[in-house]
Amino acid sequence: MGKENLWLLVIWISLIKSCEPLNTTTESVFYSNTTLYEDHSDIETRFSLRTSEEPDEDVCYLVIGKEATISECRFNASSQTFVIIHGWSVSGLFESWVYKLVTALYEREPSANVIVVDWLDRASQHYPTSAENTRLVGKDVARFVNWLEDLEYPLERLHLLGYSLGAHVAGVAGNLMNHKVNRITGLDPAGPRFEHAEDLRRLSPDDANFVDVLHTNIRGTPDLSIGIQRPVGHVDIYPNGGAVQPGCTLQNTMKLIASFGINNMDQLVKCSHERSVHLFIDSLVNQQHQSMAFRCSSKEAFYKGLCLSCRKNRCNKLGYGVNKIRTSRSAKMYLKTRELMPYKVFHYQVKVHVFSQKNLSVVEQPMQVSLYGTHGEQEGISITVPTMSTNSTISFLVAADVEIGDLLMVKLKWERDSYLSTLFGKNEFIIRRLRIKSGETQSKLIFSAKEEEFAHLTQGGEEAVFVKSKENQESRRQARLHRLKMHGSFFNQATE
Ligand SMILES: *[C@@H]1O[C@H](CO)[C@@H](O)[C@H](O)[C@H]1NC(C)=O
Ligand SMILES: *[C@@H]1O[C@H](CO)[C@@H](O)[C@H](O)[C@H]1NC(C)=O
Ligand SMILES: *[C@@H]1O[C@H](CO)[C@@H](O)[C@H](O)[C@H]1NC(C)=O
Ligand SMILES: *[C@@H]1O[C@H](CO)[C@@H](O)[C@H](O)[C@H]1NC(C)=O
Ligand SMILES: *[C@@H]1O[C@H](CO)[C@@H](O)[C@H](O)[C@H]1NC(C)=O
Repeated sequence: MGKENLWLLVIWISLIKSCEPLNTTTESVFYSNTTLYEDHSDIETRFSLRTSEEPDEDVCYLVIGKEATISECRFNASSQTFVIIHGWSVSGLFESWVYKLVTALYEREPSANVIVVDWLDRASQHYPTSAENTRLVGKDVARFVNWLEDLEYPLERLHLLGYSLGAHVAGVAGNLMNHKVNRITGLDPAGPRFEHAEDLRRLSPDDANFVDVLHTNIRGTPDLSIGIQRPVGHVDIYPNGGAVQPGCTLQNTMKLIASFGINNMDQLVKCSHERSVHLFIDSLVNQQHQSMAFRCSSKEAFYKGLCLSCRKNRCNKLGYGVNKIRTSRSAKMYLKTRELMPYKVFHYQVKVHVFSQKNLSVVEQPMQVSLYGTHGEQEGISITVPTMSTNSTISFLVAADVEIGDLLMVKLKWERDSYLSTLFGKNEFIIRRLRIKSGETQSKLIFSAKEEEFAHLTQGGEEAVFVKSKENQESRRQARLHRLKMHGSFFNQATE
């Protein structure tokens, strides 16, 4: 196994360096579905109906054209169906996430049918060959769906979930099936050879009534990225910016390898990629910790905290419980996550006006934020403020791992970035108040300096402390008055 995993690494690296986009040929089979569905002898793909008792065993296969297998496998025609499609495989075996996803789906929807598509033979080739095979497997999946439809199974109960190359298998299938299935979820769809491929060859929004996508490993230039960078669904979520997931850094992986051996070498490649699956599993089993994602024009704007709005469907739930919003063009959405399950964090925008008598302008400053609330507290959250200059307003994102509840107190500490910076006297800004918006609750609160009218934020100095301001009640009263005006009368309000 150790050798195999090393190979995986070597192959991944070599394949992503040698890839050409897949838009060179388009065969007519892609446009026509006539006569394809009569003879089923050429179907190599297998459809295993797993059970909640044995989520990692293939005990019964549904066979296209053989209606008896429906009852033999105890397919529940009045319940919904999930179809899991794996990706490229080096070992020729199912990866461990498959049974974990099967288990999680049954935990959430006990009466569902969870089917695992087995295309391991075609998936364990040299990557470019396996990538090409997504067309053949997609065709098989489309035939499977058409067959179910012929048996009068309603397609609005079908949900395909494809990981890596499997996401494109689902996309190809979506193109070829007679009618669209309810939903396709793309779990970090593969990038190499698909980034510039045309819609028919990869996952795209027209492949199902609703297509949602998690992008978790989009590091590097488009042609070298393991996950596809462009949005390919109705909702495209880029957790942690989509590039490297928390807990998946080179350093962490090297630690894993040091303590668990070379077997974990593949984690280096797969950790962020596979995180897409675990985020989805999290959404199935940890309903009380539902992660929220926010629409944003860029990762940079998101990290400034500028996109924590839920107005006009700008926020959505990550994973199984997503609101099926279909905008005309794909919208990128962002969130931060923890490094372990449950992945949910709580997002806050902190807005501060910084004053000074001197003209002072600094970049990339390390800060520590501590939050204290009615449910909990978190101290020392590290952030980097890109720029800060005299008499300007800065805005940044703070993500708390724990639920704070209603915020009561906030501390800001400006860390010394180097020994040099204090040689020439202390840099300092003066702050009167903080404005804090919560992404999860959408509440906006004002915090004012605790001790005096102003707090001093000194580089390498003490923390500046802020408490919930009396202005909040004032602004709430104004908001209420505003609402009353909008509603026209006090009487309407009283009956609301
Ligand atoms: C593939 O598509 C990309 C972007 O649409 C284009 O730049 C490139 O020339 C295409 N390649 C071929 C071989 O058609
Ligand atoms: C596939 O075939 C069916 C029935 O022959 C037809 O109604 C449908 O439009 C075809 N779909 C495509 C994509 O050609
Ligand atoms: C089949 O699914 C329906 C609806 O989800 C459920 O009520 C029923 O109990 C299931 N039947 C079996 C045998 O599991
Ligand atoms: C910043 O604004 C304050 C108050 O408005 C003013 O007193 C101060 O001189 C300004 N600082 C600079 C450097 O212009
Ligand atoms: C600060 O800089 C601004 C613009 O560069 C200038 O107009 C102002 O006079 C400066 N203030 C001080 C106190 O140096």
